[in-house]
Amino acid sequence: MNYDNILNMDDLERAARRRVPRAVFDAVAGGSDDEITVRENRRAYRDIWLRQKAFADVRTVDASTTVLGERVSMPLLLAPTGMARMADSSAESGVARAAVKAGTIFAVSSAASQPLEQIAAAAQGPLWYQLYYADRDSASAMIDRVEAAGYSALCLTIDSAVLSKRERDARNRFTIPLRMTPKLLMTGVSKPRWTKDFLLGKTGRVSQGGSGMFAARAAYRNLATVLTHSKLVTWDDLAWLRERWPGKLVIKGVMRGDECPRMIDMGVDGIVVSNHGGRQLDGSPSTISVVPEVVQAVDGRAEVYVDGGIRRGTDVLKALALGAQACFIGRPYIWGLAADGETGVSFVMSFFQSEIERGMALLGTPTIADIDRSAIGMEARPAVGVLA
Ligand SMILES: Cc1cc2nc3c(=O)[nH]c(=O)nc-3n(C[C@H](O)[C@H](O)[C@H](O)COP(=O)(O)O)c2cc1C
Repeated sequence: MNYDNILNMDDLERAARRRVPRAVFDAVAGGSDDEITVRENRRAYRDIWLRQKAFADVRTVDASTTVLGERVSMPLLLAPTGMARMADSSAESGVARAAVKAGTIFAVSSAASQPLEQIAAAAQGPLWYQLYYADRDSASAMIDRVEAAGYSALCLTIDSAVLSKRERDARNRFTIPLRMTPKLLMTGVSKPRWTKDFLLGKTGRVSQGGSGMFAARAAYRNLATVLTHSKLVTWDDLAWLRERWPGKLVIKGVMRGDECPRMIDMGVDGIVVSNHGGRQLDGSPSTISVVPEVVQAVDGRAEVYVDGGIRRGTDVLKALALGAQACFIGRPYIWGLAADGETGVSFVMSFFQSEIERGMALLGTPTIADIDRSAIGMEARPAVGVLA
């Protein structure tokens, strides 16, 4: 693929759109209901302004930091997404390899299209595992596998008790497993590379059993089971999980500060401010507007992360200035995967690494530790809560 004209994540999204059928593109790009929250996640970064420092020595810039004690090359991690096989046959293994090569961490989804052991073997580096809690028996069995495969942290998603209404998917008659309908075949004619990949699959790459199209379908079936199962999780379940899982525990899907102290008292190590990329509760505010409230409530007792709408290095710097330890991206790396497989994901990683480093130099903050609240402009028109 020619990257000369891919200058930002919107360019990459367009490249991905050309490669995959409409139904697949929409399933990734879309959100719930009116997609107000999808748009707001991104828009809210425009209400936050950066104040550069004078005379800073930025001859060398170091974007590396730590996440739960682990060194990472930049404060940007890969969020769990469950659709990788739809974008490209290298699927989660390709994403994991690219993440480790870039020196950062991928949180593998419960709805991944490859077994977690296979992804860990491909990664050869630190990974987190995202859990959709269904019941104690299945969670227990899953935790044994996650531990045996060497995942360094467990990330419990709490914003998905029920399936949301995804209207693009309904209009496209999108199904999991994806059915080769005449309509999909029609769009496939203009997307030959994706269609060939989908029909043939890759033996040994999608190893939910079988090969070729059957393997792909089996992988989608696995995904369907996870997605359609209830994912209701309670405070009691959290207490049980904290006892059951010996490693670091992160909660993903927190959108208010008042409930954070209780989570931390129960032994939670990290909190991801997330509205699922606008795919669950539409009408929830942008995640970045909630970060200050959560940071204040957490009061340094756990790490705070944020995801949703991050498309630029300067978005990451804004989140860090407001107190986040690191950010996650979802859709951008799927666009990389859809456009050019594992190489596309690596492109996204180097895009963010250089955007973050350039942003740090221009802001006058040569290390991550130099980025603090003073980097945010007081004259900025605040999103809800930002300057509260
Ligand atoms: C296609 C897709 C699948 C996703 N699957 C999951 C999932 O299985 N588990 C989960 O916790 N979050 C899932 N998410 C949400 C992401 O982890 C993340 O919160 C979101 O994508 C961040 O927003 P962004 O896409 O604007 O970067 C998914 C998001 C997308 C786009």
